Parts: sequence; structure tokens; C-alpha cells
Amino acid sequence: MPANDHLIIFDTTLRDGEQSPGATMTKAEKLRIARILEKLRVDVIEAGFAIASQGDFEAVKSIAESIRESTVCSLARALDKDIDRAAEAIRAAERGRIHTFIATSPIHMQYKLQMQPDDVVEQAVRSVKRARSHVDDVEFSCEDAGRSELDFLCRIIEAAIKAGATTINIPDTVGYAIPEQFGETIRQLLNRVPNADKAVFSVHCHNDLGLAVANSLAAVSSGARQVECTINGLGERAGNASLEELVMAVRTRQDLYTIDTRVDAQHIVPASRLVSTITGFPVQPNKAIVGANAFAHESGIHQDGVLKHRETYEIMRAQDVGWHTNSLVLGKHSGRNAFRSRLLELGIQFETETELNEAFTRFKALADLKHEIFDEDLQAIASDTRQKEEDGRYGLVTMQVCSETGVIPRARLTLLVDGREHKVEAEGSGPVDATFKAIESLVDSGCNLQLYSVNNITSGTDAQGEVTVRLERGGRIVNGIGADTDIIIASAKAYIEALNLISRGGVRQHPQGADV
Ligand code: KIV
Ligand code: ZN
Repeated sequence: MPANDHLIIFDTTLRDGEQSPGATMTKAEKLRIARILEKLRVDVIEAGFAIASQGDFEAVKSIAESIRESTVCSLARALDKDIDRAAEAIRAAERGRIHTFIATSPIHMQYKLQMQPDDVVEQAVRSVKRARSHVDDVEFSCEDAGRSELDFLCRIIEAAIKAGATTINIPDTVGYAIPEQFGETIRQLLNRVPNADKAVFSVHCHNDLGLAVANSLAAVSSGARQVECTINGLGERAGNASLEELVMAVRTRQDLYTIDTRVDAQHIVPASRLVSTITGFPVQPNKAIVGANAFAHESGIHQDGVLKHRETYEIMRAQDVGWHTNSLVLGKHSGRNAFRSRLLELGIQFETETELNEAFTRFKALADLKHEIFDEDLQAIASDTRQKEEDGRYGLVTMQVCSETGVIPRARLTLLVDGREHKVEAEGSGPVDATFKAIESLVDSGCNLQLYSVNNITSGTDAQGEVTVRLERGGRIVNGIGADTDIIIASAKAYIEALNLISRGGVRQHPQGADV
């Protein structure tokens, strides 16, 4: 294996993470996440699957044009058309990588690919060579390696390295592996593949048994030098290995790992928040590193211990991963410059002065209601402003909701549809139900409401509520998010945003579909 001075962090939030049902992101949202990943100093950003749709292609391309410090990668099946499209999307990157893959397990080769093992090897070799004709940095993945035969893995990996692959990725695609066994597989591959020293070995673990991080760490102990992961562990089904857990495990236990990552951990919590806000997937309070309770001590004995000597109960410092103990930042007297520079510190940059002005007006309105404005409030204002700026068929003009004991709740709204105002009203079992029914009385979207959730962005009854609405239509799932100090208004905004996302339509190919 080439000498590596650090563990390579390959972030796939924008590709595998986006494969979570409902986690579809717009190009602008992906770019914001890519920027914070660059600040985190991740080595490789897998920006998407360029051939999936025109939108995916544009997103990968704009990330390749904007990101300078991290390698930008596009996924491609082992097909000429995928590889050429990936190459086109990453052309402007300072450092670009093509990541091509084909399934190697007996079950995938027989039923999904319907190909003989010899043909799979041939196709892998052809694809790696084609990718190398575009770029020097080529990653080859053996999909479903976790259930593949070791002898076959050795054979296809040797051939892929000979064809020019510089990184070999071993995915546990279905989350089937167990740490001891997975670590042993990596050890065997490194020992048995004759040219293993010519490539970096990587792992990509899914969390179906809750073992993605443990399996990745076992692989690192066996010599893997790249780990693939996502912010908040987002990803297909139960998700991928979580970046924050991997990075902090390796850093906290430097007594066990001889290697560290280049990640600037101070950006971990802001990155987690950003991904959660954009995707609408809340972070559970007891989630390691980034959950609200990760550094909170409830028991009196623990509190007493921490006050006497922090390390009695804490193995990491909250501020080292980006938790600010006192994140009160601005108030109603703060001016535009203070507002702009705090946003910049949070990695939020508006494309236009109009957007900044709009956000500042919202900030002032919120400061009148709430007095104390926290970083989380600013992030919600920024994301709400951007949503408004993006073209949508539907918009909220005004609303009025009546909720009184013994009276059926009623909602009256003025909605904007394709630029024209419409008045609607409906009754419901509660104010939120009445609001959604009023919207549907006009729109008649045919969507199924799959999820409705409310989180308060900061603490206190004057906090902004952040509402997520997940809608499904014809198998397509979207998440709309709305924030407001009034949770009924936040709910209406979230519902309308979800309708806008559904109405944008568009068909995307799934990378792991059968058509190789
Ligand atoms: O889980 C998986 O096998 C993947 C590959 C495309 C790397 O996501
Ligand atoms: Zn995956």
C-alpha cells in the first residue's frame, strides 16, 4: 500500500446520503453542503451520480467548479456512458475522481446482473481503463463485497489495480458484516492481492445491523486507509457509517490508531445541523457527538464529577466538535454588518444582495418577537430565505387559524399559485389538519403525507419551530421544511415547500439498479 500519512475521509453525504428516501437536495443545497465539507477538510467529496439526471449532473459540475481543497468525485456504474458523463461533470475540478463499481457477490451477479463472473471481471477492467483515460484518480468498488467470495474478490481487485485503479473500495452494501470478520477480510485482501501495495484500500459500510462505524474501524485496524461515510450517518436504508463518529473515535483513541484524519472537527456540529436542516432528517438527541444530549449531564453525580474534573465523565470536549456553550449571537439592535459577518462565520453566503436584504428583514422581525437570536435561528432564516428565492409554483401570502375549546378548528389562507392569489378555507381535527386540508382543497396534489414532525430550533417557548413535511406521490418522496415562531405557519410553509418540490418532478436513475 502506498505510504499514507493520514486516514482518508471520503464523504458520500451528497450521493449515498441523498439515496435516503426523502433526502433529495437541490443543486444550491448540495453546494452549501459541499462548502462545509471542504471547511471540514474532508479529502474526497462524492458529489453525486452524474448520469442519474440532468439535475445531478449540474450539481456535480457546480461542486467541481467551486471546491478547491477537496477532491470531487462522481459515481459511475461500470458502463462507458456513465464513466464519460462522470468525467464531463468533474472536468473543472482541481482534483477529480471517477468512482466506478460493479457487483461481485454470487447473488448479485446471478440475479441482478445476470452475468458470469469472468464477464464481470472483464467489464470491471474495461471500465477502470476507460475511467483512467479521463483522470488519474480512479476508484473501483466491488458492490456487495461483504457477501462476495474472497477468492473472487482477490481476482477482480488484482485485475482492477492492474488496469489502473488507484483506490479499491470494499463496500458492505447490505450491512451484513461483523467487525472481527470484516477486519479479517480486509487483512486477507491486503495480504493476498499481489499488487495491493499499488492502491489505497477503502471501506464503505452500511448500518443495517448498527455496525457501520465498528466495521469501518475494524477495517482501519487491518490496514484500510480510506473510510467512506456521511454526515449524521445519512444514507440508503439504515444509512452509512457516520463521519462524526468515525473521526472522533480515531482522534479520541490515538492510543489505538496509529493514524489520524485531517478533519477540522470544529465544523462537525455546524455540518450536522446544515445536513439535518436541508434534508429534514432530525438528529436524535442521544446521537453520539452531534445529538443535543451528547454532552449533557443529567445525573447529579455526573454533574458533580464534571465540575470537579471534566475528564471524570467526558472523553471529548464539546467545543472541539463545534458545540458553542454560549451561542447567543445577535439581538434586535444588531446591524446588517454584524448580521452578515456572523452568517459568514457560519459558512452562509448569499448569492445576491437581495437575498441578504430579505434575510436581514426576517432577522429583524424575528428579533422583535424573540429578543435573543442564536446561530440555529440564523441557519433557519437562511434556509427559509433561500427556499423563497427558488422558483416554486406555490406560495403562502397570509393565513388565519381559529383554535378554540369546543369549536372545530378552521384555517383560512391566501395562496399564490403560478403568480395568482386564491383564497381557501377548511375545517380540520386540529389547526394543522385544517391548514393542510385548506391547501389541498385548492391544489388537490394526490400526495400521501408520510411524515409530519416539529422540532424547536432553540429552547424556550419563544423558540422557532422547525416543521418537516414528507410527501409521497407515485413513488417519489420529498421533504419540505418550514421555520417560524408560530408552528402552524411553519407547518404551512413546510407543506407548500414539499408541494413545490413534488411539482418540480424529474426522474432520477438509481445507481444500484439492474441495468448494467
Ligand atoms: O453500498 C454500496 O455498495 C455503494 C457502492 C456504489 C459503493 O454505495
Ligand atoms: Zn452505499
